[in-house]
Amino acid sequence: MSLKNKITSDRLPKHVAIIMDGNGRWAVQRGEDRIYGHKKGVDSVREIIEAAAELKIEYMTLYAFSTENWNRPWEEVEALMELMVNSLNNETKKLVDNNITLKVIGDIDRLSDNVRRSLDDTLEKTGKCTGMTLVVALSYSSRWEMIKAVRDISYKIKEGKIDPANIDDKIFENFLTTKGIPDPELLIRTSGEVRISNFLLWQIAYCELYFTETLWPDFGKEELYKALVEYQKRERRFGKTSEQVHENEN
Ligand code: FPP
Repeated sequence: MSLKNKITSDRLPKHVAIIMDGNGRWAVQRGEDRIYGHKKGVDSVREIIEAAAELKIEYMTLYAFSTENWNRPWEEVEALMELMVNSLNNETKKLVDNNITLKVIGDIDRLSDNVRRSLDDTLEKTGKCTGMTLVVALSYSSRWEMIKAVRDISYKIKEGKIDPANIDDKIFENFLTTKGIPDPELLIRTSGEVRISNFLLWQIAYCELYFTETLWPDFGKEELYKALVEYQKRERRFGKTSEQVHENEN
């Protein structure tokens, strides 16, 4: 029986974020090169987006390329960028057909013109979709994002447009690249690594974390359902006591 039947549809996380890890190891285990693993990783991306959209999850953020990934061997960076362009070109129509909006977070100024063009095209074509929002983190790191926010806020202070005394969570969030996107309620990381790796550090303050040994190319629909079932077993307290959380139930 599929685990899908165990998911309670009215208690789904609004936003699921995923650190897709393990493509390289998956390929090396099969005597293939790392790029082959990334190609298989794209198949998992497709399957997971489909499953999330079917469940009517509102936001899904995928960590596709970190600021630190720029330090990988140049051939791997090039291959990943090519994969990204091809995936965007091949999948744009499917995204539109499924009413999925694409958003990108990250330092996109570092991307090549070629990648930027494909991105802009998909952003434009999916711009009016009203179903799930797919957020792709590209050339993204949380520290980059927060430093940028501090810098941008400082300029506003200098211009006299923000009073430092008024800075609170809301104002700060308006300067993050995730402005307008609700915080993730579930963060999944594949491949057995138990780290956050500079991903959405501000936004995951109250997020449920789910780690699995499964390598990203092996992460399919059932794996997503398993994470959601586990999420629904957890009690989310946001700093309150268990009694406070349940006090209005009877
Ligand atoms: C981590 O595996 C994966 C990545 C750095 C890239 C993820 C990218 C994709 C799946 C392809 C494109 C994505 C989209 C949204 C179209 P790793 O190389 O760190 O694996 P390892 O830890 O086993 O070496």
